[in-house]
Amino acid sequence: MESCQPILNTGLRGFQVATTRISDVDGTLGRLIYRGYLVQDLAGKVSFEEVAYLLLFERLPQKEELENFKKQLAGERGIPPEVIAALETRPKDALPMDILQAAVAMLAHHDLDTREYSPEAALRMAIKLIAKFPTIVAAWDRIRNNKKPVEPNADLSHAANFLYMINGTIPDDELAGFFDTCLVLHAEHSFNASTFSARQVASTRAHMYAAVAAGVGSLSGELHGGANTRVMEMLIDIVTVDRVEAYVNNLLDSGGKIMGMGHAVYKTDDPRAHILAPMSKKMGERTGGTKLYEISKVLEKKGKEAFKQRKGRDIFVNVDFYSASLYYYMGIPVDLFTPLFAIARISGWASHVLEEQFGGAGSKPVLYRPDSEYMGDYCGPDQCSFVPMEAR
Ligand SMILES: CC(C)(COP(=O)(O)OP(=O)(O)OC[C@H]1O[C@@H](n2cnc3c(N)ncnc32)[C@H](O)[C@@H]1OP(=O)(O)O)[C@@H](O)C(=O)NCCC(=O)NCCS
Repeated sequence: MESCQPILNTGLRGFQVATTRISDVDGTLGRLIYRGYLVQDLAGKVSFEEVAYLLLFERLPQKEELENFKKQLAGERGIPPEVIAALETRPKDALPMDILQAAVAMLAHHDLDTREYSPEAALRMAIKLIAKFPTIVAAWDRIRNNKKPVEPNADLSHAANFLYMINGTIPDDELAGFFDTCLVLHAEHSFNASTFSARQVASTRAHMYAAVAAGVGSLSGELHGGANTRVMEMLIDIVTVDRVEAYVNNLLDSGGKIMGMGHAVYKTDDPRAHILAPMSKKMGERTGGTKLYEISKVLEKKGKEAFKQRKGRDIFVNVDFYSASLYYYMGIPVDLFTPLFAIARISGWASHVLEEQFGGAGSKPVLYRPDSEYMGDYCGPDQCSFVPMEAR
């Protein structure tokens, strides 16, 4: 098909493909806004449940509304025994993000709301998924370690309950509070790859589970949510602070990327990284050593210098950089770092699916259908003449 539009192989950078009232990332000023609030004004002050409410219902809840919402989430934490049984049949070394994606699809089999295309049904599915994500991730971690999944505890907050289901012990307030802040910081980030994937699927009027499963798949890649695991692998490889400089130079000279640095939108510091860095230091001190934090600090400095030397411009750390050492200090297995991201981001994805299907900031829902220029110049300007098998 002939196109009258310019061909832009830019991965849609800088293109506005929809309107949204959910969040905004100002990459120049380094600002992230959830429904009107700067993320740094929310982190440490509100719980993940409050943020999820804000994202879904467009305003912060009143006390009673929050209590009801928490009860609703706590009541939806369980997952059907059939899904647990299916997880038990999976190879123990399956990638946790693949397990999460498969579990989301399986949950759809158990939910009649999938048959109803309405904002009410979509909201119910959103709440169920937000509630169940931690249960799936924790259950899988127990199953692969030959342990029985721990039943969710409805008396605990969303954050504390996840840590409880992973470890089998109730975390103290400081640990649960740190994890809660991580969830708040990772809850939403406008039209990133996974959110766009979820919205694109939602635009076909597919149900919430289908859209969210697409988001999980997209988040798993190392250029997106998978980067936090890669950052941790890098920190483990580096071993000591004195090896950072040589490591960075080797990495860049061999065409590698410093994981946790660079961003498609931020051209300055990612505001979330500033909140996570001191949390990593504190958590390191609490667990008896800040070596990984110290390596991260030096890596940030040396990485910036080495990048500038080669490219003549600045690069900045992103949300994944300090969350890696922080999660490690919290005792989270390295390959669960990306599922942790998903446990938070489901609140953003679900809000975007709702907006895409039922409330597009004044715009009509529309099926995404971009175009491409066909470059298949196989037979010159003419179409190829078909040759039957026996004559090829
Ligand atoms: C996030 C990311 C994909 C953004 O990519 P992008 O939009 O293409 O980035 P930019 O346009 O700013 O930079 C492009 C150039 O910088 C290089 N670059 C970007 N991030 C880099 C990094 N972390 N390490 C080394 N080089 C990097 C690219 O290779 C490219 O080089 P080229 O011009 O020679 O081809 C990229 O920064 C990256 O891969 N970072 C590491 C993975 C990561 O942390 N992802 C999580 C993001 S929240």
